[in-house]
Amino acid sequence: MALTPKLTESLLERGFSRRQIGRISMGAAAAIPFFHEFAMAEQAQDQAAGGRRGGGGMGGNRGPYDPEVVRITSNENPMGPCKEGLEALYKVAPLGWRYSPQGANLEFNSLLASTENVSQDHVTAYPGSSIPLANCAAAFTSPTRSWVMAGPGYGSGAGRFIGAKTIKVPLRKDYSHDVEAMIKADPNAGAYYICNPNNPTGTLTPRKDMEYILANKKKDAVLIIDEAYVHFSGPENMSTDLVKADKDVVVLRTFSKIYGMAGLRAGAIYGRPDLLAKVREFGGSGFMPVTATACAAASMKVGPSLMKERLEINKKNRDLAFEHLQKMGVKYIPSGTNFFMMEVKGMTGQQVNAAMATKKVQIGRTWPEWPQMVRVTVGTYEEMGKFNAALDKVLQEGPPKSPSAA
Ligand SMILES: Cc1ncc(COP(=O)(O)O)c(C=O)c1O
Repeated sequence: MALTPKLTESLLERGFSRRQIGRISMGAAAAIPFFHEFAMAEQAQDQAAGGRRGGGGMGGNRGPYDPEVVRITSNENPMGPCKEGLEALYKVAPLGWRYSPQGANLEFNSLLASTENVSQDHVTAYPGSSIPLANCAAAFTSPTRSWVMAGPGYGSGAGRFIGAKTIKVPLRKDYSHDVEAMIKADPNAGAYYICNPNNPTGTLTPRKDMEYILANKKKDAVLIIDEAYVHFSGPENMSTDLVKADKDVVVLRTFSKIYGMAGLRAGAIYGRPDLLAKVREFGGSGFMPVTATACAAASMKVGPSLMKERLEINKKNRDLAFEHLQKMGVKYIPSGTNFFMMEVKGMTGQQVNAAMATKKVQIGRTWPEWPQMVRVTVGTYEEMGKFNAALDKVLQEGPPKSPSAA
């Protein structure tokens, strides 16, 4: 994306080098092929297979699904788009030769605002939340104004890619964000990022901690709250009221998780108009595929019954794994989302990943902060049954002899 001379000037003033600005002008979103959840889970699977699968971890190169393999790697939702969403999608698809055949984009934008009780200038639509997340790094951080986040956490890739200072602060013992330590780590940060619930732990950070950041950050810093999984934890954990109150907050949402639309691509950011304008300068917003907007709008219109049904199914499938892990004495973090972390005694997370892959069950990825743990996505009931059976074999056999055995 070509940056305006004014924006280039302001990036230079913020301490970015010309080379780093070159990366930003590729779009901070150019980092997405490497740092999106899908690409990172792919890289982990390449590693588990001893690097033999090729593909370079670019996400988009993944081939068709092998029905023999359980793939619970990327926090996708096997319930998929809801019935009402699919009906709307089928209806609009034949008209897809027009840019905007039935005003689905308008309806989408207006529903994004009304469901959160904010005005339309407080929300911007994106094809998923990866692009705005990457662009938040360009908008609010720099080589001197850092991006402060949790470790283990999500969302460090883009900032690092463009040369912004990135600081990871260990989670508290209860797996919430240690907000006091985050402020202490850099009182001059440009952005404090809280993923709520956190990926990869699936755990919540309470509202008072958001307020602590807002009360203690530097005046021009921003609190970014990534609510990719918030629907799994209930409306009481949503932060869009802080947006409505015009705080220094940007909230990220996606339709990839509870709504099961990861491949269709829909998402949004909420914030004060001046903050959203800063993020939009880096491109990627607004121009949405009509199939995705029609599907997302129809899904939103279903209302709370959709959430209720999906939460019950997800819990049932997750409990099937949790009960088994308990029985087998495998430690896990009691997540409230559609993924969880577990630790098999005597094996690293990467070894568990590789060993499970030999049993045709691909699980998620590992984080450098906790090398003993590995993340697992909650699949269907049948898939979680297969996960349990594969885990039993891995517990019996131990780690694979070498990565190439995977
Ligand atoms: C915490 C978090 N934020 C953002 C994203 C981006 O998702 P998408 O670009 O599919 O909306 C993900 C994907 O897994 C995620 O886990």
